[in-house]
Amino acid sequence: MHKITILNGNEFIYKPDNSKILEDGSFTWKAPSNIALVKYWGKRDVQLPQNPSISFTLSSCFTETTLEFKKREEPAEVSKPDGSTDFEQTLIQKVFKWDLFLDGERKPEFNKKMGGFMTRIGKLVSFISDYDFIIKTHNSFPHSSGIASSASGMAALALCIMSMEKALNPLMSDDFFYQKASLLARLGSGSAARSIKGELVVWGEHSEIKESTDLYGVEFPHNVHENFKNYQDTILLVDKGEKVVSSTVGHNLMHGHPFAEKRFEQANDNLSKLSEILQNGDLKAFVNLVESEALTLHAMMMTSNPYFILMKPNTLQIIDSIWKFREQTGSNVCFTLDAGANVHVLFPEKEKELVNDFITRELVQFCQKNEYICDSVGLGAKQM
Ligand code: PMV
Repeated sequence: MHKITILNGNEFIYKPDNSKILEDGSFTWKAPSNIALVKYWGKRDVQLPQNPSISFTLSSCFTETTLEFKKREEPAEVSKPDGSTDFEQTLIQKVFKWDLFLDGERKPEFNKKMGGFMTRIGKLVSFISDYDFIIKTHNSFPHSSGIASSASGMAALALCIMSMEKALNPLMSDDFFYQKASLLARLGSGSAARSIKGELVVWGEHSEIKESTDLYGVEFPHNVHENFKNYQDTILLVDKGEKVVSSTVGHNLMHGHPFAEKRFEQANDNLSKLSEILQNGDLKAFVNLVESEALTLHAMMMTSNPYFILMKPNTLQIIDSIWKFREQTGSNVCFTLDAGANVHVLFPEKEKELVNDFITRELVQFCQKNEYICDSVGLGAKQM
C-alpha cells in the first residue's frame, strides 16, 4: 500500500520572482479529450472528486488554444457594488480581462464559465490580473457533436497559463508544471485534470496508486499490458444536441443520493481491480468492469431526485448490438458512456479490422447523420 501524500494546494500558489519581466506574447497548446473507464460522478468543495477515476487519453479529439497576452498599463480596477444584477460578472471582467474566440468567432456566451474559472484559479496564478488576454480556440471535433469540449478546452487553457508562469519563473520543474496545469484544469472542469499528460491518467486519491491525489491527475504508475496498447475508441454520435441536464447539476444530485456512499466505495474497488487488469491484460475482465461502470454512472442519474435519462433509444440499440456481436464472435469489443447519449466503442488494436467492419455494417445506422469519430489512445497535451 502506498502512503498518501497530504497536499492542500497552497504549495502551488505563484510566488513572484521580480527578476523576470513578461510584457506580451502568446503560447499555444493542443490538449486531448479523455474517456473515463472508472467514472467520476459526485464532487465536494472546489471541484474535488468524491471518488478516484481513471481514463484513457484520446488522440484525434483535441482542443488547440492560443493565449495572447499583453501587460496592462493600469492595474485592475476593483470598485464597490453598483447594485446591478450582473455586478459580479462585471467585476470579474474588470479584474480579469479576456476576449474569447472559438473558430474565429467572438463567444461572449462563454464569459460566465470563463469568469468562474478565472476567479477560482486567481489565487494560484495571481499574475493573470496584470494582463489583457485574447483566447483563440479550436476543437478538432465538430462543434455540436455532443462531445464535451470542457476537458480538452480547460486543459489547453491551463497549459497556456502555466507556460506564462514558466516564463516568469523558468526554474520551475517539469513535475510542478504538469501537476499545476492539471490542478488549474481541474478548477475549470473536473475531468480536465486527466487531459494533461500520459496515456492512462488517475485523478483522485487511491491507496494503491502511487502519488495519486484529489488535487490533480497522475499518470498510471504501473506497466500496462500489451493488450491495452494503442486501444481503439470509436465514438458513435447518437445525439448531437445540447444535454438536457448539465454535468454540474448531475454531480450535485449525488449529494443526498441514496446510493452515493456505496457508489464511491465501488469506484474505489473498481479502480483496484482495473489496475490489476491493465497490468495482467485480462480483456474479458476489462469489458465487464468498463461496461458496468458506464451503466452504473447512468443508473446514478436515473436514481437521483430529480431523476433523468441521458441515453437515447439508439444508445440502447448500440449496446444490444455490441452484446450480440460479442456473443457471436468472441470479440473483446465493449462500450462506455460519458454524461450523454453518445457511445464510445472500445476495442484492442488487433481487433481493428473485425470491429470496424461491424461498426460500419451494424452500428453506423444508429448515429445521427451516420456520423462517428475514430480515435485511439494518445500521449497527452503538446505545446505547439
Ligand atoms: O468534468 P465534468 O464535470 O464534466 O464531469 C465529467 C463526468 C463524466 O464524464 C461523466 C465522468 C468522467 O469521469 O469523465
